[in-house]
Formats: sequence, structure tokens, C-alpha cells
Amino acid sequence: ASGARGDGPLLGFSSVPVSTADKVVVPEGYIAQVIAAWGEPVGLYGETPAFKFDGSNSAAEQEAQMGMHHDGMHFYAQDGSRSGLLVMNHEYADDGLLHADGMKTWTAEKVRKSQAAHGVSVIEVEQQGDDGWQVVRPSPWARRITACTPMSFGGPAAGHALLRTAADPAGRRPLGTLSNCGSGITPWGTYLTCEENFSSYFNGPEKPSPHERRWGLRKGGAGCRWHEFDERFDATRHPNEPNRFGWIVEIDPFDPGSTPVKRTALGRATHEGATVAVTRDGRAVVYMGEDARFEYIYKFVSREKIKPRGLRENAQLLDHGTLYVARFDADGRGRWIALGHGQGPLTAENGFADQGEVLVKTRQASDLLGATKMDRPEWIAVGPDGWVYCTLTNNSNRGTQGEGVDAANPRRNNTTGHILRWKEEGDVDGTRFRWTHFVLAGDPANERVEAQGNIKGDAFGCPDGLWADGRGVLWVQTDMSPSAMGKGDLTRLGNNAMLAADPHTGEIRRFLVGPVGCEVTGATGTPDGRTLFVNIQHPGERPSGRSDPEQPGRYSNWPDARAGGRPRSATVVIRKADGGPIGT
Ligand code: FEO
Ligand code: CA
Ligand code: CA
Ligand code: CA
Repeated sequence: ASGARGDGPLLGFSSVPVSTADKVVVPEGYIAQVIAAWGEPVGLYGETPAFKFDGSNSAAEQEAQMGMHHDGMHFYAQDGSRSGLLVMNHEYADDGLLHADGMKTWTAEKVRKSQAAHGVSVIEVEQQGDDGWQVVRPSPWARRITACTPMSFGGPAAGHALLRTAADPAGRRPLGTLSNCGSGITPWGTYLTCEENFSSYFNGPEKPSPHERRWGLRKGGAGCRWHEFDERFDATRHPNEPNRFGWIVEIDPFDPGSTPVKRTALGRATHEGATVAVTRDGRAVVYMGEDARFEYIYKFVSREKIKPRGLRENAQLLDHGTLYVARFDADGRGRWIALGHGQGPLTAENGFADQGEVLVKTRQASDLLGATKMDRPEWIAVGPDGWVYCTLTNNSNRGTQGEGVDAANPRRNNTTGHILRWKEEGDVDGTRFRWTHFVLAGDPANERVEAQGNIKGDAFGCPDGLWADGRGVLWVQTDMSPSAMGKGDLTRLGNNAMLAADPHTGEIRRFLVGPVGCEVTGATGTPDGRTLFVNIQHPGERPSGRSDPEQPGRYSNWPDARAGGRPRSATVVIRKADGGPIGT
């Protein structure tokens, strides 16, 4: 049986082969077009600075241009399927590419430009006949949110002592969002952007406290040098500033003047994504993965029902509810364990003074509750069949350093990752579920049996982005890191790719392969299913994560292929030449 719906099989295209070419490859009969690359103006009134291919745009210009490293995104239709808002994350910046001379010199202006290349872009896009899609400039909705944009806190930890700083003694007015990886949307029309690897932006103390160590703060951070000119990112001087990151941030894309809100009730984590489901009685459920080795999967259930209409009516909806962490048992069953202050071990004696502290220290609370330590939970998607799917990208430390294998994370030295799925017992707010593996990723040609996987279809490794489209296709995007790509168990898998899975049959077909050194991430489409938007992040990235400004286009010169140019993250718009639905 196939997962056919309507007339024809769910997957109708011919899969594309593995590729190592510096281009986007799509199936025969499909057209791929590039829009909204890093540095293009977003369309603010009176501010449309052109991209300078030598990287010499100023920080002020970057504040009016697309950020770097496009990631999660969503298309909000405004006029059927021909125009709307495209809202997207910019996960991080490659300072070697961002500035004309890279990091040879280091200045306050470069820090400001780097901060401006982070965050979120809101752009208006429209389809113009056969010419494809274009960014509308200027647009009343155009907006850049950066690592410095004023925000507020909502929920139980707002104003908490652990969120107070010298610059914000009330602990209610954080600045900026960063490391925005996956994303989500709410039924009331807002966008959720997720703060992932925030610790790497901070200079930590030589001897971190247990709390700082649990969140990965360390002296020098990961080489980010913002703290040299912006003391907010020096955690030795402002130890609570890191606590103000790691949240899910809610943005109203239809009000460019609105203040983004960090929703503390959803917990603090190196958040990958946030996927919303709705209970039968109308409450919101948010599924979230924490992408780090041996971290957890979370679910939030709102206390109130969703009110009709928009953000104003639901302004506090994500501030009240219950946060749970997942435990996967060996018998194929699982439990959602509540993270409530005073419940079980979450007491003052164990270091949790109140619910605010439980939420700031979500990891430590989950440790005490015996939740299951996973192989880097990334995106989550609710499938057409009621199963909830989660990508677990990889964990080479599984069974080699730290935790051993378990039923849910069954492979030692898990280099290729897997996709797990669960079905809630009762409604989506239930506290019990059944789970199974949807697929173990890998390559059947691998010598190491554990890295062969059990894919019905095309080989892939390191699933990350995940999206269920309106037809019921589950789209899987891969993120083999540049340091692991083309080697070991990933030798024959080529560049990162996007695959289509039929959740009913388990069949998986390779649909798109990205250019050299990129990851493929972020997927969204028009309501008619005939336009698909996909992000290409960090083309040409080297294992170090920083490009050499002397030879910026050496490994990839995508998408411009311009002599002396630099590779740029960008959005790829995919349509079928015959105008049919994507995937058919
Ligand atoms: Fe930012 Fe988990 O990838
Ligand atoms: Ca990434
Ligand atoms: Ca990701
Ligand atoms: Ca990833």
C-alpha cells in the first residue's frame, strides 16, 4: 500500500543522485531559483543598501540587509499562494566572510556588524508570473531583529533574580536573540524563533560554577570575540546575561513595531525548534528538542485555550502551562514528566527556589527527573498520521564517552543519526505515549554494520530539519558537519541533502542536494503546495567554521559564482515546471 491521497502516489518524482557539485540539484521537471541571499536589502523604507561583494558593507547597512546563515523559516500567505511574508532565522555569522579582511583586525564596528547579521528577517515576497518569486522592496512589513533588538520576558521566570543584570535590574528587558536555529509557528499567527548554542557567544570564567558548567560556559567561549567590545557578552562581568538566552522567542511578524517576547514557561535549553499542536479542547502543545549530546525532548501544554484571532488575544497563552520532559522506556512506551517546582526532587533543598529557577535550570531539573538523554534532538514534526516525528542528528559519543546505548538511542558511536516517532495516548496533552523508530539513517555500503541504517530508499546521514507539508510528505533535511562530511561513515553521501519520506510506507527519496559545504535547513511552502522554500546555510564552510578572507570563494562560490565573490546563505524557491504540487 502506498500513502496515496487523492489521485496518485505521495512521492511522484525521480530521486536525484548523491552530488558533490557546487550547485543545488533538484529532480527532473523542477525549477530552483535563489532569492534573499545574505546582504540583500530586506526592504526597509529609505534603507536599501546594496550588497558589496567584497564584504565591505557597514554595520548600519547590515542592519537593513538579510542576515547570515539562514535557518528555520515560515511563509505566511497574504494573497492566496502568490504573495506573503517570509520570516526566517539567521543562526550565526562567519566573521571570516562577513568583513572585508575577516578577523585580521577586530573592532567595535565588526562586533556590531556581526550582531546585526544574527537574529531574524521578515521580508515580503511575491510571485511575478513566470519570472518566479521576488522580494518586495520597500515593504511595510520588512524588519530585522538582531542580537541587540529590545525584547521582553514573559512567564514564570520574568523578573527572576537569575535574569537580573546591571543594565536591566528588573530582569524583564533582555536585548536581542542569537543562535536562532529551528523555528515554529502558532495557530494565532506568530513566529517562534529558538535560541540554540548561546553559550559559545560568551566569555566564561576560568572556573565556571556547576550551573555555568552544565550550560557549557567556558573561558574564551568558542572563539566569539564580541565580549572584547561589548561587555554584555563577558559572563565574568555579567554572570546572569547567559541566563537571558536559551529561550523560545515569540514574534508577531505582522506588526513590525511589536516587541518580541522570550517565553520562559517553555523552559531554557539549547533549543532547536518549537512545533505546535492543538488539543481537542483548543489548548496549545509545543514540542521542543534540545540539540546537544545527551540532552532532552520537551513538551509544553498551555493552561488556557487558544482564543480566536491573533496575538493580542493570546498574548499570555504561552506564559501559563506545564512543561514536561520525555522518558523513553525499553518496552516501547514513554512518559512525559512534569517540571513543576515542589514536585518530586524539584525542591529548594535540591537547589530550585521556585518555578523560575526550575525554568532557568531546565537541564538540571531534567537530570534529577530521570529523563532520557538523547542523541541530539533536532526538529520535531507532527505527521499526517498523528505520529510525532523527531530527528536525532548524531552522537559519536554514545557508548564511547558518557552514556551507553539505550532503547531509544540504540547505536554506539551514532555517526549517522535516526528519526524516532511517538503517538500520544489519548489527546496530545497526554502524559503517556508509545514510540518506535521511523528510520535509522546510514549508508548500506558502510562496512560498520551499525552505520548501515535501515533506510527504505536513498541513503542519508545526520537528519536535522523536518517538516510535514499539507499533502502529508515528511521532508527531511541533513546537516552532516563540514568536519565529518565525505569521510568515515559519510564517505559516499556527498553534500547535504533534502529527502521526502512517505510516513505510511517508510519510503525515502532524495529530492534536493545542496552546494559544497552547506547544510540544507528550513522548509516551508505556499498553501497550494506548488511553491517550496528551502534555506541553504553556510555554503563553503570549512571544519573550522571560519572562512579565509583571502580566498573566500575557494570551496564554494554559491550562489553568485562570481570571480572574487564570497559564498552566501540564501533561500531557494522550488517549483514544478508544469505548475503541479511539489513532490508529485
Ligand atoms: Fe543549529 Fe541543531 O542545528
Ligand atoms: Ca547550522
Ligand atoms: Ca539545525
Ligand atoms: Ca544540526
